[in-house]
Amino acid sequence: MRRHAGQVGRVAGVEAVPSHAVELRKAGKFYGSGPARVHALREVDLTVETGEFVVLLGPSGSGKTTLLNLVGGIEPPTSGAVVVGGRDITGLSEDARTAYRRDTVGFVFQLFNLVPTLTAMENVRLVAELTGRGDREHARAALDAVGLASRANHFPAQLSGGEQQRVAIARAVAKNPALLLCDEPTGALDLETGRGVLEVLQDLNRQGRTLLVVTHNAAIATIAHRVVRMRSGQISEVTTTPAPGAAAEVTW
Ligand SMILES: Nc1ncnc2c1ncn2[C@@H]1O[C@H](COP(=O)(O)OP(=O)(O)O)[C@@H](O)[C@H]1O
Ligand SMILES: [Mg+2]
Repeated sequence: MRRHAGQVGRVAGVEAVPSHAVELRKAGKFYGSGPARVHALREVDLTVETGEFVVLLGPSGSGKTTLLNLVGGIEPPTSGAVVVGGRDITGLSEDARTAYRRDTVGFVFQLFNLVPTLTAMENVRLVAELTGRGDREHARAALDAVGLASRANHFPAQLSGGEQQRVAIARAVAKNPALLLCDEPTGALDLETGRGVLEVLQDLNRQGRTLLVVTHNAAIATIAHRVVRMRSGQISEVTTTPAPGAAAEVTW
């Protein structure tokens, strides 16, 4: 039941209430000051619709991670506004931003970041615990959703890279976030295992979750609804994919 641009919030006969999943309004971010100032993001406007799968593509240093971090509430913008699910998170206090991040957003990173001394199940439960969903059943359902129920009691070192990333995805979705932010999720994986991870991400999107995925791998763009290209802290091009491909067929 994917919802798309134009359909969002529409009820017959009633004026649509805009409820975009993500809205960046002239969002900017700089680091440092004086001559050392780095403009990581410059007045970026971007709207992501609920249920959309958007890929952010661009060379290293183009501002992809910065954009993702603003949406995820890891840091605030230095100018402009960030609105997620209709809520303006721009000026939130540190505590409110932490709560927002914990309760609303699922993160997946390039290097999995699993706790090596905890099993797959325990890794998933640890984070889900923070939002009151740390019980065994939720965690098992999340591992099941990424095809790893049978690996629940394995430690990270006993899992392949692709499996570890799927545990990390299970950890992110166990708290049931509407929005999933992934930063180079296949960056440390070979084609075969990377493809498995993409299949899981595509499944999660088909179940209605909004996905914002950062990559420098153009092949991943073929499975997205929309590709946002970045260069020097700005959006250089946005393209809509008429018929996104199946993750199982991605190759690079
Ligand atoms: N914490 C930081 N302090 C200073 N500069 C930063 C920081 N984070 C990112 N940058 C700079 O901002 C620019 C964009 O970085 P980033 O968003 O990480 O790009 P990408 O993810 O596309 O590789 C780069 O020039 C980077 O060096
Ligand atoms: Mg990055």
